[in-house]
Amino acid sequence: MNRVDGKVALISGAARGIGGETAQLMAEGGAKVVIGDVLDERGRQTVAAINAGGGEAAYVHLDVTKQEDWAAAVNLATSKFGKLDVLVNNAGVFVGKGIEEISLAEWEKLVAVNMTGVFLGTRLAVPALREAAKSSEHGSAIVNLASIAGIVGSTLDPLYSMTKGGVTLFTKSAALEFGRKGYRIRVNSIHPGVIQTDMGEQTFVSRAQRAGTNDTSAARQVVTESVPWGRLGVPKDIAKGIVFLASDDAGYMNGAGLVVDGGVTAA
Ligand SMILES: NC(=O)c1ccc[n+]([C@@H]2O[C@H](COP(=O)([O-])OP(=O)(O)OC[C@H]3O[C@@H](n4cnc5c(N)ncnc54)[C@H](O)[C@@H]3O)[C@@H](O)[C@H]2O)c1
Repeated sequence: MNRVDGKVALISGAARGIGGETAQLMAEGGAKVVIGDVLDERGRQTVAAINAGGGEAAYVHLDVTKQEDWAAAVNLATSKFGKLDVLVNNAGVFVGKGIEEISLAEWEKLVAVNMTGVFLGTRLAVPALREAAKSSEHGSAIVNLASIAGIVGSTLDPLYSMTKGGVTLFTKSAALEFGRKGYRIRVNSIHPGVIQTDMGEQTFVSRAQRAGTNDTSAARQVVTESVPWGRLGVPKDIAKGIVFLASDDAGYMNGAGLVVDGGVTAA
């Protein structure tokens, strides 16, 4: 039996990377998927690939910092697929700058996408998630993409870390608020280590710049060697965890954080 069979999921930032892989796995598991992103062409390609493989997906332009975009995305899920069971707040951006280097504009963009985006997505999806939960044994689910940088301090990326720390605690607070209100929406976070995506690549570039070498391969090697499991993560490593948290198999997980980092934060 497929663990997300028959569910409808909305995934932000799913044109590529972790979100794209999650959309693919959700569809393979029998879910109908709405992909929202600002990368329209790439997003439509991801949808086309899922549909060509026998899945059911639709694309919507979604800038997570805009309430009206969220309203349209939720509306697409309910009008096209009949309901909304799962929200994955995946869209995120990275800035590899220190406290003294980052500009106010860069900080504000980071907060807008990584924090305001998660808050708006949650708020705008709640009515549809509540409705779907009424006829689901295990309720509805929200999965937030935090990071290991949201549970331990970051030597190099303190501002990115601050936004992900916010997502970590917002996850727990939202679980508590919805529990108090009797909404039957589980809210959990996932905490990836360094994953090989466009964003993962940005972290190597910024480390190489800081080292003054611009040697991205060397920076990648240093990070790889710091992983107890001996390799970098790939999007599927995280997508599997997201699908699990969204599925009925995680029906008693609420307000929790799932760490998927090859052992980095075990030290
Ligand atoms: N890659 C890593 O090492 C890593 C580690 C920990 C956490 N994460 C988190 O995982 C999530 C996915 O990251 P990824 O590695 O797949 O990165 P990615 O850059 O490959 O994908 C991020 C996606 O978010 C989209 N996006 C950016 N701004 C947006 C906006 N305003 N509205 C809608 N979509 C927007 C991008 O277009 C892109 O498709 C992010 O929240 C990231 O912070 C990534």
